[in-house]
Amino acid sequence: MENKLIVANHKMNMTASEINEFLKELGKINNKNVVICPTSIYIPYFLKKKFQVGIQNTFIHEKGAYTGEVSPMQAKSLGVNYTILGHSERRMYLEESDTFINKKVLEALNYDLKPIICIGETLEERNMLKTDKILKRQVINALRDVAKIEEVIIAYEPIWAIGTGVVPTNKEIKATISYIKTIINGLYPNNKVKVLYGGSVTEKNIKELNKIKEVDGYLVGGASLKPQAFLNIIEVVDSQ
Ligand code: 13P
Repeated sequence: MENKLIVANHKMNMTASEINEFLKELGKINNKNVVICPTSIYIPYFLKKKFQVGIQNTFIHEKGAYTGEVSPMQAKSLGVNYTILGHSERRMYLEESDTFINKKVLEALNYDLKPIICIGETLEERNMLKTDKILKRQVINALRDVAKIEEVIIAYEPIWAIGTGVVPTNKEIKATISYIKTIINGLYPNNKVKVLYGGSVTEKNIKELNKIKEVDGYLVGGASLKPQAFLNIIEVVDSQ
């Protein structure tokens, strides 16, 4: 079985001095299946360690007059290997559309930056039994014109599970991840795309979650900000 990926999404958290403290503990991670995605200005602190580094967003062009944006070419030139795209927080607060996200995916792949494409339904959509329809739309649109499918990672993050402490049952996660894999297989037969789970993953529930063999890794928000909690999560995933 392939190794599971453990991705930390720090979102917009921590000050420079907190990052230094954080790295005193986390700097010793020696595991290339761990990807840490700090707030982008802190990325240089995380490079040249024995884990991988990702960025939380990248733009649709390589350079030019796009104030505030960072391109995949720039991220890659620094030693960053992953980019989180289409996170629900960006879809929601920055009104990112499927089409825009697809452009970001294609630009990232141009520079061999692996996109971690986030998909997921809202609680309302779930209650209206629209989950499959939403996920199918998000997957198909994000992967439009993608040639290097082996570089792509999908993260299933039900929006109602993000930061809430509410997690779907193992049975639900297994069914949804399998469904997502069926969609991807319909587009790219025999692919090896990893599908991660994200949403309130903690050191307390990781043992149980990690029993689901269809899940190829985790995207961890809040718990990745606490060094010991994150180290415990890595240890469980590595040892099972
Ligand atoms: P939490 O782990 O805090 O629920 O966040 C999940 C997430 O959004 C990771 O991208």
